[in-house]
Amino acid sequence: MSGEPTNEAPVEEVSSMSVEEDDDFVDPWTVASKSATGIDYGKLIKRFGSQKVDDELIQRMEKVTGKPVHHLLRRGIFFSHRDMHLILNLYEQKKPFFLYTGRGPSSEAMHLGHLIPFIFTKWLQETFDVPLVIQLTDDEKFLWKDLTLEEAQRLAIQNTKDIIALGFDVNKTFIFSDLQYIGSCPEFYKNMLRVQKMVTFNQVKGIFGFGDSDCIGKISFPAIQAAPSFSSSFPHIFNGKKDVPCLIPCAIDQDPYFRMTRDVAPRMGCLKPALLHSTFFPALQGAQSKMSASDPNSSIFLTDTDKQIKTKVNKYAFSGGGTTTEEHREKGGNCDVDVSYQYLTFFMEDDERLAQIKKDYTSGELLTGYLKKELIEILQKIVGEHRKRRAEVTDEMVQQFMTPRKLNYQY
Ligand code: TYM
Repeated sequence: MSGEPTNEAPVEEVSSMSVEEDDDFVDPWTVASKSATGIDYGKLIKRFGSQKVDDELIQRMEKVTGKPVHHLLRRGIFFSHRDMHLILNLYEQKKPFFLYTGRGPSSEAMHLGHLIPFIFTKWLQETFDVPLVIQLTDDEKFLWKDLTLEEAQRLAIQNTKDIIALGFDVNKTFIFSDLQYIGSCPEFYKNMLRVQKMVTFNQVKGIFGFGDSDCIGKISFPAIQAAPSFSSSFPHIFNGKKDVPCLIPCAIDQDPYFRMTRDVAPRMGCLKPALLHSTFFPALQGAQSKMSASDPNSSIFLTDTDKQIKTKVNKYAFSGGGTTTEEHREKGGNCDVDVSYQYLTFFMEDDERLAQIKKDYTSGELLTGYLKKELIEILQKIVGEHRKRRAEVTDEMVQQFMTPRKLNYQY
């Protein structure tokens, strides 16, 4: 989208590398904060030049859709956006948009943090009744990790099963692996080339921190993640239309890709994609880092058993409670750093119950053990139900979702 007032700085000036000593570090590969309460998301909005999801936007979404917003929006977990008002303006004028999100298949099992954008995307798809494209960047993981192409492709299929298990509508969702799709779609490749021609090495160095010894595959990869933002990359869905607006839900670590995309879009005669950014689901050890697939003890995986979930939460979930029961009763717990409480804000749907827990934990009435027990039950239920649904996903279903085809939508 273009033409709106914006506080976006020139794209290469928003470097992930040139941060002050005391700043948090956020890029697509590293999320780190020195503060026990984690990333300062207000500061990040200023540095990245995005907009806060404020009450006005939330009320407007409720008015336009006629239903309450998802708790992930209400609780400030999706906290930042770019051009969401424009998406709503167009939607009101009966000009629908499409959704685009993705996953880099680096591991067999996805963790709870990865679920966040997908759960929210599903809600957006149902609420706005729009098509969705999901990119699996198996090529990215081949370039960045110690993986063969074949293994990256296999992981893409495994992760696709997890995504399908979340219940996306097959008639409105196209899931594609870069290794499978790009070679079959000249329009996608043309958009990649257009982006590649417009971004200099200097710019990607500034945006992504690439160095002289990074392989050239990495340097040109951002164009591949940019291309699905343009409706012309999916001729089978949009009949060659270039002007279908795109909305991308993701955690804020992916924003560098889309700052770059928004910078080149007008020069390509395309619309800038809009974004909704989430905070990070923290590591079990605390909010200084995000849950990461490469550290098994930092994460709860969708493949974890009930017993593993219980052990991990009890053993590793950082507590904001007092060191002794007496101290806790006297001083109360600190929800701002307590990981179990943070997890409940992502997954406990009942607002009143959550508010009561916060009150009672802060006053010292509730002990950490209770909070952990409550969380373990919720997580075992979520992961258990996911396990069952995933077991029902067949190879035929994967094939169906991944076949380029018309979606059930008229533009
Ligand atoms: P990946 O596989 O690292 O992450 C997939 C999605 O999950 C988000 N995410 C998290 N959200 C909350 N808490 C966390 N701890 C957490 N960790 C990861 C990511 O922001 C992402 O939305 N290059 C991408 C794949 C991709 C993509 C996209 C993502 C391709 N196109 C478009 C978003 C939108 C990647 O490796 O994501």
